[in-house]
Amino acid sequence: QTLWPVIAIDGPSASGKGSVAERVAKAFGFHYLDSGALYRLLAYAAYTQSVSWSDAAKLAVIVPSMDIRFEGGEVFLNGEHVSVHIRSEQMGKGASEVAVHPEVRTALLQTQRNFRKAPGLVGDGRDIGSVIFPDAALKVFLTAGVETRAQRRYDQLISRGDTADYETILEDLRQRDLRDTQRSSAPLKQLPDAMLVDTTKMNIVEAVDMIVEAFKKTAKNT
Ligand code: CDP
Ligand code: CDP
Repeated sequence: QTLWPVIAIDGPSASGKGSVAERVAKAFGFHYLDSGALYRLLAYAAYTQSVSWSDAAKLAVIVPSMDIRFEGGEVFLNGEHVSVHIRSEQMGKGASEVAVHPEVRTALLQTQRNFRKAPGLVGDGRDIGSVIFPDAALKVFLTAGVETRAQRRYDQLISRGDTADYETILEDLRQRDLRDTQRSSAPLKQLPDAMLVDTTKMNIVEAVDMIVEAFKKTAKNT
């Protein structure tokens, strides 16, 4: 069985993982896994079924009932177009709450591994290089200063017509960073074998180029 190459891009919220990972995938014609979307989908499904984000047992039961499809950058849950619903800050918070439960992470493990198909995969999240694909050909820790990330999230919300308050976003990001790095199950961390890409003073194209070049080098060595 061929193990197709994986590029794992992990990092904190609003560091640019999604934007960068999608472009890296395009550069190599690879599939793209937005693992955060899966946790957001679960938070949303639970919310619509009035299941609490703290109820690990009930959440784990919801996972196998979810029919998830990614099509042309849009997300569908049981046939419903949910892209806009799951992108809200509320579902981002919900995602980070459901993601603390080991039962939930186990239930979503195989779903994520199924994205590994020919000719390869770029996955972004928090534990892609540590838990989902520890044999990834290239691991990247994509990060940026928390104020920079808050400003980016703010601009993102304003540009899509939402209202936003910078101080609230900054505080929410700090809390999310804490929850993601301090949880006992698959916490976000910089792995010793990961390449550090700090985008505080780097644009998306520069970050993509760095990762593309690094992967070309690993591909030559294997
Ligand atoms: O877009 P943003 O970086 O804010 O969030 P996301 O990547 O959509 O992930 C939402 C939440 O899901 C994160 O805050 C994590 O708590 C959780 N998550 C996770 O635990 N493991 C992953 N591989 C991806 C996301
Ligand atoms: O997926 P994640 O939450 O890590 O971040 P994202 O949604 O890809 O990026 C958050 C916002 O920051 C987007 O609007 C990006 O266009 C922007 N960004 C940027 O301005 N400069 C970078 N170097 C990376 C992202």
